[in-house]
Amino acid sequence: MVLPKPLLTSVGVFLSHLTLTTAQAFDCGTDTSHASEHFLSTISSLHSPQTNGSPAARAASILTTRDTTSQKDNNTAITIDTIFHIVATPSKKSTITNDMPSAQLDALNAAYNPYDITFNLVNVTWTTNEAWAVGASPADAEMKKSLRQGTYRTLNLYFQTDLTGGVLGRCTLPSPIANGRSDPSVYLSDGCNVNANTMPGGDLEDYNAGKTAVHEAGHWLGLLHTFEGNSCDGPGDYIDDTPPEREATDGCPVDPVKSTCQGKGDADPIHNFMDYSSDACYEGFTKLQHDRMHFMWNLYRDGN
Ligand SMILES: *[C@@H]1O[C@H](CO)[C@@H](O)[C@H](O)[C@H]1NC(C)=O
Ligand SMILES: *[C@@H]1O[C@H](CO)[C@@H](O)[C@H](O)[C@H]1NC(C)=O
Ligand SMILES: [Zn+2]
Repeated sequence: MVLPKPLLTSVGVFLSHLTLTTAQAFDCGTDTSHASEHFLSTISSLHSPQTNGSPAARAASILTTRDTTSQKDNNTAITIDTIFHIVATPSKKSTITNDMPSAQLDALNAAYNPYDITFNLVNVTWTTNEAWAVGASPADAEMKKSLRQGTYRTLNLYFQTDLTGGVLGRCTLPSPIANGRSDPSVYLSDGCNVNANTMPGGDLEDYNAGKTAVHEAGHWLGLLHTFEGNSCDGPGDYIDDTPPEREATDGCPVDPVKSTCQGKGDADPIHNFMDYSSDACYEGFTKLQHDRMHFMWNLYRDGN
């Protein structure tokens, strides 16, 4: 992991740092309310193996035009062309230094390489724009329309210095939106918004090792939060090897062990990238999250 650099000391940065850290816990704006019907029926079929046919076969049959790619082995290594867009306000511009994008790429690859996924950074764009750096509507759509590069299989990460909405990040889940269509305008909004201060060397204490981008890229690859639904009995994240979790994790509660679904199995998956833990607490994905990301890549993104 890349060590955070000392805080930059301009007054503006210091004040915003205080503002952010006093109330800051990890928060992210991605849940099933933003998912397409197709995505929901796919994960639901993957989650209930007791019904007819293999889950993978049923999910693949939903998207008939993509059924050849969706049969690919989950272990085939994938490389994802990635674009970083650094979007800063004039006053925060100097806080994002030239070495931060490559440190962020290293953090992504360190997290994902054990799961047969590599991010290939093909471009970094640098923009100074007061409204885009905040990313409220409609400036956010305007920014993506202007900056987005590549196709539906290209990951666009927007690192915004003043990301609004009380979150450190949010991302689009994959959907059949691009299926069979060559017009990039249908998926202009696809990609992840990430608070730029979470990049390695950023000024967000406990959240500046680049793991927010790791978490958001998990959504882009089709993963939900481990505590999705906030219930011990529901389908949760629709992944069978993550324990049920009723509440998101804040920080890294190792002692006493956090268990919001006592009697339902294991302790909460506080070290999972799809929880809300602090960067130092994050360790990895499960085997079935690995499979799910590869499955979703093959089903929705590869070939588009
Ligand atoms: C990188 O982005 C710039 C726009 O900022 C664009 O002009 C250039 O063609 C891109 N380079 C590649 C390799 O895609
Ligand atoms: C691939 O992943 C899907 C989705 O999680 C799973 O249903 C399927 O069993 C996996 N295939 C193999 C060969 O492991
Ligand atoms: Zn999230």
